[in-house]
Amino acid sequence: MSKMTAAITGVQGYLPDNIVTNDDLAKVVDTSDEWILTRTGISERRIMKDGASSDMAAEAVKGLLAKKGLSPLDIELVIVATVTPDFPFPSTANVVCDKVGMTNAWGFDLKAACSGFIFALQTGAKFIEAGTHKRVIVVGVDKMSSIIDYQDRTTCVIFGDGAGAVLLEPNEEGNGIIDAILRTDGSGRKYLIQPAGGSENPPTIQTVEDRMHYVKQEGKAVFKFAVTNMAEVSAEIMEKNNLTSENVDWLVPHQANLRIIDATAQRMGLPKEKVMINIQRYGNTTAGTLPLCLWDWESQLKKGDNIILSAFGGGFTWGAIYLKWAYNS
Ligand code: UT7
Repeated sequence: MSKMTAAITGVQGYLPDNIVTNDDLAKVVDTSDEWILTRTGISERRIMKDGASSDMAAEAVKGLLAKKGLSPLDIELVIVATVTPDFPFPSTANVVCDKVGMTNAWGFDLKAACSGFIFALQTGAKFIEAGTHKRVIVVGVDKMSSIIDYQDRTTCVIFGDGAGAVLLEPNEEGNGIIDAILRTDGSGRKYLIQPAGGSENPPTIQTVEDRMHYVKQEGKAVFKFAVTNMAEVSAEIMEKNNLTSENVDWLVPHQANLRIIDATAQRMGLPKEKVMINIQRYGNTTAGTLPLCLWDWESQLKKGDNIILSAFGGGFTWGAIYLKWAYNS
């Protein structure tokens, strides 16, 4: 009997219906479809009109349970990666459990910005590997429109709303999560941050007037760190696991900028056909990007496929996960 691993055994996404195109944003801020498309690869994104992160997460989880033929009562743990929780507390995971009826589950939120999904996936996997949990749901969700300044053209064109959820179950066939390299560097916080609303700058009329509750990003600086670190960590996990560009089947990269994705794929020696890219349709959904890619590509994935998930985000946080896909759809 081989070592027990945690495998993804189902994936489901949820996107709000409301589509906002680059031309729509060009009516609000001084930008153009041409600038956004050439600098980022984004054509359109989804923006939620009503509801919270938990509503998108709940829809993704309900779809996942229906697909797997499971009852909400079968789930033991729910981890929600998000930087746009419904509230500072209680956790979004608590709210999602209530909305879906997962009354046997405990749960918590995990905050690692755009790396949130891989940090949460590795955390969830450990509960399966320990043998204490048999069914864990990991959600990546962000309602970025709730913290984006639609007067700031440098950030409002990039982000979108969306959610993805995966089910983790034990696997004894050698598939599932094989390895992870996860990193943080808090000195990068000044480049990408929501400055107010926490204990350093509690909300006041002044913080609101100063627009401090919105995402602030020094795009060029973040770009430099992202392009280097995402490529390096992806190459590192390949080398560590004796993987080559031939036997890696898929790269699932965080969807922040097409140029960062291309540089990562190039460093790994991977052709475009092996890279999941949906940034043109959804923009950067922060913790949502990776599960939304897996959802979009699920029908093409085969049991045993070698997959690298890779991300970089605010914090700074970054990392890569190597997993072997566990099922044919
Ligand atoms: O997911 C979390 C991690 N985040 C990232 O990985 C994001 C990393 N950064 C980026 O993706 C890119 O830096 C951006 C897409 C944010 C910006 O692209 P860039 O090529 O780095 O542009 P830039 O910031 O150097 O700006 C170039 C010019 C500036 O004008 P000047 O100073 O050259 O006259 C900006 O003011 O483009 C201007 N600009 C815009 N123009 C039209 C900035 N935003 C816009 C806009 N439309 N939306």
